[in-house]
Amino acid sequence: EGVTEMTLKVNGTARALRAEPRVTLLDALRENLDLTGTKKGCDHGQCGACTVLVDGRRVNSCLTLAVMNQGKEITTIEGLAKGEELHPMQAAFVKHDGFQCGYCTPGQIMSGVACVREGHATTDDQTREWMSGNLCRCGAYPNIVAAVREVAG
Ligand code: FES
Repeated sequence: EGVTEMTLKVNGTARALRAEPRVTLLDALRENLDLTGTKKGCDHGQCGACTVLVDGRRVNSCLTLAVMNQGKEITTIEGLAKGEELHPMQAAFVKHDGFQCGYCTPGQIMSGVACVREGHATTDDQTREWMSGNLCRCGAYPNIVAAVREVAG
């Protein structure tokens, strides 16, 4: 299988890369573009560690091919902060201790951003439901929900 040229627009910047067409968006981000904030947990759509935003919608980046995401706006955890200023969701995770080991945190935060933006954080239950695709083996769920709910206002 040949290597193909592609361009991904990540965090507002067009990035060219060469990869096989079968390469997932997750692997392209991590291996080709050195954006290692997006984590690989299960690589099978089960854990949410790989969550990114594509055109504002959350996506498990392990389940989509990089080549299919050309021309779309991809946002990773690296794209949230404005310089030294944390995104409100990042700041809320710090304030509420929304992590322990931190491995699931980038995916949790990206899901949280989509949750608030799409209006799914109006109650604790609704937030838990929306965030249920993001697993945390440390069990920081109450603090994660508190962080997302604070940003939702
Ligand atoms: Fe993609 Fe687990 S690594 S859902």
